[in-house]
Amino acid sequence: MEIIRTVNEMQTRSLSILQDNKTIGFVPTMGFFHEGHLSLMKEAKKENDLVVTSIFVNPLQFGPNEDYDNYPRNEKMDAERAKEVGADILFMPGVRDMYPKKMMIDMSINERVNVLCGRSRPGHFEGILTVLSKLFNIIKPNKTYFGMKDAQQVAVVDALVQDLNFPIELVALPTIREADGLAKSSRNVNLSKAERKEAIWLHKALKHGQRFVVDGEKNPAIIEKEVKKIIENETSGSVDYVELLSYPELKNVSFIDQQVILATAVFFERARLIDNLILNAD
Ligand code: PAJ
Repeated sequence: MEIIRTVNEMQTRSLSILQDNKTIGFVPTMGFFHEGHLSLMKEAKKENDLVVTSIFVNPLQFGPNEDYDNYPRNEKMDAERAKEVGADILFMPGVRDMYPKKMMIDMSINERVNVLCGRSRPGHFEGILTVLSKLFNIIKPNKTYFGMKDAQQVAVVDALVQDLNFPIELVALPTIREADGLAKSSRNVNLSKAERKEAIWLHKALKHGQRFVVDGEKNPAIIEKEVKKIIENETSGSVDYVELLSYPELKNVSFIDQQVILATAVFFERARLIDNLILNAD
């Protein structure tokens, strides 16, 4: 596996791969790999000639009081794991290389961001679309792979690819979970022992909400209330949101008669966890 650390070198390398008529599958990440990240690389490996994965903890997508400085990092372990699953190139640019000066262009997003994490983390998705636009232009992938763990991110990246005509196929893959149902996340290491036990209730509560939909409940407010109650009763965390919206449009619905997302975010002492389920109303 090649390790590339500069934007210039990566851009030149990608151009030569494409000139050789080889396809590139791209997995953007912030590192500290777990099975979720690796599942994206494995799928990319199946569908492309070469897999490029990036590790870049993007300062633009962290708010002033968020965990940019404490975001977990382990370059050496990540490089080993990426190599094991067959990544061909690991791109790890520096912050000054990606952002040599203050950006002259700001992304602004009109749809799919005034809800869920977009509402609680102003500027978060704008920062993500900025870094992804840069990475897409540097790497020029044929396909790019994202996890449904971050379903709002998938919806917003889908909007980016559509609106700005990136010639890239967006592939969204299922959330990988621990045996007890907790969604794998780099941030899980910041949970205390007691919180780790409670954290299974995010998924359990969402599954409970899913049951309501399967049983024919059509009113989002009832389901949101039930799910919130469970998380509040079973964890010491503080609920940021429990929301049921259309997916991928992320609009409020008063009656469930299409594909919807049931999503939650919960603050624990040193980690904010998110999880969701996509539900289909029949
Ligand atoms: P990061 O949180 O490192 O996630 C990288 C990719 O792994 C994302 O597509 C995310 O949805 C996926 N992922 C994380 N946990 C997963 C799980 N349990 N199962 C399946 N996939 C999972 O998302 C980001 O980085 C950044 O916002 C980024 C897109 C790199 C832009 O900076």
